[in-house]
Amino acid sequence: MFGFIIELVLVFIISCLTIFYLFVRSNYGYWKKRGVPYDKPKFIFGSLSFIMRRSFWDVFYDLSKKYKNNDYLGIFMSWKPALMIMSKDLAKKVLVKDSDSFQDRYSYSGMKDDPLGSLNLFSIKSPMWIQMRNELSPMFTSLRLKGVTELMNINSTELVRRVQKDYIDKNKPVDLKELFSMYTSDTVAYTVFGIRVSALKDLASPLWDITQHMVRWTFWRGLEFTMVFFLPVIAEIFRLKFFSQPATEHIRKLFHEVVAQRKKTGESNDKDLVNHLLKLKANLKLPVGSDAELADNLMMAQVAVFILGSIETSSITLTYCLNELAYHPEEQEKLYQEVTAMLKESGKEILEYDDLLKVKYLTACMHETLRKYPPVPHLDRVCNKAYQLTENLTVEPGTPVYVNVVSIHYNEDNYPEPEEWRPERFINSTDSDNHDFTFLPFGEGPRFCIGKRYGMMQIRTAIAQLITKYRFEPAAPVKMESDPYSVILGPKGGGKVKFVPRT
Ligand code: HEM
Repeated sequence: MFGFIIELVLVFIISCLTIFYLFVRSNYGYWKKRGVPYDKPKFIFGSLSFIMRRSFWDVFYDLSKKYKNNDYLGIFMSWKPALMIMSKDLAKKVLVKDSDSFQDRYSYSGMKDDPLGSLNLFSIKSPMWIQMRNELSPMFTSLRLKGVTELMNINSTELVRRVQKDYIDKNKPVDLKELFSMYTSDTVAYTVFGIRVSALKDLASPLWDITQHMVRWTFWRGLEFTMVFFLPVIAEIFRLKFFSQPATEHIRKLFHEVVAQRKKTGESNDKDLVNHLLKLKANLKLPVGSDAELADNLMMAQVAVFILGSIETSSITLTYCLNELAYHPEEQEKLYQEVTAMLKESGKEILEYDDLLKVKYLTACMHETLRKYPPVPHLDRVCNKAYQLTENLTVEPGTPVYVNVVSIHYNEDNYPEPEEWRPERFINSTDSDNHDFTFLPFGEGPRFCIGKRYGMMQIRTAIAQLITKYRFEPAAPVKMESDPYSVILGPKGGGKVKFVPRT
């Protein structure tokens, strides 16, 4: 009897494996059947056999070189066929012109087990996304941003001091990404929670406790995040999380403390996100039958994504920009001259919001850095209704679609000699330009980055203050190795330059 049961179990397992094998094999014929050029899949992994060994950024770059004449390419997220868009014209169709067929992102982690991960503005699905986006957009008006710029400037002054203290007086090894994460963390503490703390001054900072957990890309954290982005089914089955568990716990605790304090004192800070979210909670139209926890989770999810969004991408851009300036002394000198000229013209010691926007070469250096190193190499969407992309290709509902930003930024027709860092390409660029869809570091269309102008401003204040005090000299290779555990671009080891005080 026992032997019979074992036999039965074995037959069952073998049948399941055979069905799975046949299912995967048949899926791998998906693009061939449709006459779409595709990257040959590896069994089970599909196009993802590189994960945790190489960065997505590097692989998206390689694909853009290997298939440089293609407008699109079939790839496989493990067994699932997905489409990679590689031309600006098709990017425009998917992101803007026909965005009603591509409303949601593909990345997801499951509402039940990861409410903060699935309810934040980045991940949340339509129709709730529309309501959240409309409610949160007023957080980013020019007036608010002007106020926040003052604080960014205070923190940039602290950044300048920290450089003097650590890297000049004490000669400690530089970790640019960590340094800039402290700087961005100090600002987001105020914009989200209304608290003035300073990780840069080595003072106790509940925000630094959170962000350290958020942006530390260990093997397991990287794998978890990768699954959420590229294999959401697996993320749901294994209950993986968008934000790390310790970061989530710290956020919940801090959020409740700040709310309790406000209730107790009757205080309200009109400028921060917590206040905004509390007002929003009162007016929120939730789906019928939703539980009381949903409103709380919705609020905390926005807190979490604002923290992550503010810190990681800006720190990375600052790191790569300083490294390129270190390797381009002429461009660095030009930037220094423009910043000091504006200081003289304004008669101020520190450039404010309007002054900073006028320093054209600063914008050009930032845009060229974001062109060469777009922190997010892919813009993901999922097709929600059958869509005729080209004469020959109809995208089926449920298909994940990735716009390969690297391939558009490195296309020689768009940017001759794309490997060169040349701010002159963007000399009259403004923050709202997408240069006819050839410049997409913040995405485009209804789901473009809500924090774009905030991010640009915190990069501006930091560079403008650092460059008036220091010259940057090379201390790392010009092409920094990217971190294989990070889903977005990140320099392995943090990146470094030599800071030389200007006398
Ligand atoms: C250099 C700085 C930044 C870069 C390069 C960047 C890049 C991006 C990109 C590529 C997207 C996806 C856009 C798309 O799919 O079309 C995005 C979305 C988003 N970003 Fe940023 N970001 C930056 C700064 C920020 C900041 C400072 C915040 C918050 C204060 C933020 C919050 C968000 C949010 C919430 C979304 C999701 C928007 C939605 O789906 O409606 N980002 N960002």
